[in-house]
Amino acid sequence: MTDDIFSARLEELAARGLLRAATAFDGGSARTVTLNGRTLLLFCSNDYFGLSHDPRIIAAVKEGLDRYGFGSGGSRLISGTRTPHVELERGIASFLGAEAAVLFGTGFSANSGVIPAVAEKGDVIFADKLNHASLVDGCRLSRAELVRYPHCDTAALEKMLKKAGSAGTRWIVTDGLFSMDGDMAPLDEICSLAKKHDARVYVDDAHAFGVLGKNGRGTPELFGVEGKVDILMGTLGKAAGGMGAFAAGKKSTADWLLNKGRSFIFSTAMPSAVAAGNLKAVEILGNCGAERNAFMQITETFHQRLKTAGFAIPSKSYIIPLVIGSAGGALSAAKLLWDDGIFVQAIRPPAVPEGTSRLRLTLSLAHTEQDREAALQSLTSHIGSGHKGTGS
Ligand SMILES: Cc1ncc(COP(=O)(O)O)c(C=O)c1O
Repeated sequence: MTDDIFSARLEELAARGLLRAATAFDGGSARTVTLNGRTLLLFCSNDYFGLSHDPRIIAAVKEGLDRYGFGSGGSRLISGTRTPHVELERGIASFLGAEAAVLFGTGFSANSGVIPAVAEKGDVIFADKLNHASLVDGCRLSRAELVRYPHCDTAALEKMLKKAGSAGTRWIVTDGLFSMDGDMAPLDEICSLAKKHDARVYVDDAHAFGVLGKNGRGTPELFGVEGKVDILMGTLGKAAGGMGAFAAGKKSTADWLLNKGRSFIFSTAMPSAVAAGNLKAVEILGNCGAERNAFMQITETFHQRLKTAGFAIPSKSYIIPLVIGSAGGALSAAKLLWDDGIFVQAIRPPAVPEGTSRLRLTLSLAHTEQDREAALQSLTSHIGSGHKGTGS
């Protein structure tokens, strides 16, 4: 047995309120989780439309399992590709109006595989400082020069674009809807800057795919810049209710990723049954205009209620950050909500910058009006007075 080098490090993490553990629930639904026989309302999933438990999707997965078995048995380019993978890639491309899409096992592997494949030595990446960890790691893996600009600050971005000169290809890389702040990248301005300064745009739309925009085509649709985003990455583990991810764009981009995306090439293909379930989810997302409108209305009303209760929330979306400050403070706040039957996680560094630990509340169509009322009650009684409301 080698020396235990981690116990002391773990103790240090615990002392700073940064120790993490995965709570194992014994059941639940898109709306609730159960723990030791107790049911809690789930207010921190990314299952915005409750599709994780949709019977149409579950039926498609079961059918896929019967037809194709459990695992895919190989990577996509060796032996792992089946009809559902190809149909799903076509389905996503068609949903987005893109020429093509390429699947990845997860959003994390998409970002960490696509960025190094497209941004090469001699190129420059301009990345928002609050980008998701997987974008950060994708940029680190790339051999391109990395420049990080202040969050959503397009004036600073423009200065940096000017300063960088014109060598190589320039990539602006940003979340569409920021996962921990719930605010959006100003994609209209970013795409104008990209045009003016000859840059390409890469958007991680993990939290907006299927939800934002009139037809659910995400932040590019919302900001009217579809066709101006070079690569749109999205996940199937959030509004689509399953797991997996994609990068969509031109056919040549997809072919390039198939040849050069290391996390695509050197990784087992997603199970065919999961691909079949994802395809059903994309189909549903393509036909849920009424649900989308209802969700936007629910989101707006919830924000109004929070405002009336004295909360200053910087986001307007279904991702609602309640900044507490210290990691310990956020943990204590989460515990108070749990005691009331509201399950919300404390989000701490490195997921968010030091001193901005928070509760991150998310809304879902799976909630009832009474559920939202219960969450509001609990927030008002426990968080109100201590909440800074500074967000990002
Ligand atoms: C903005 C963003 N990008 C990428 C990911 C990673 O996606 P996945 O969970 O599919 O790995 C997440 C999920 O946590 C995310 O929030």
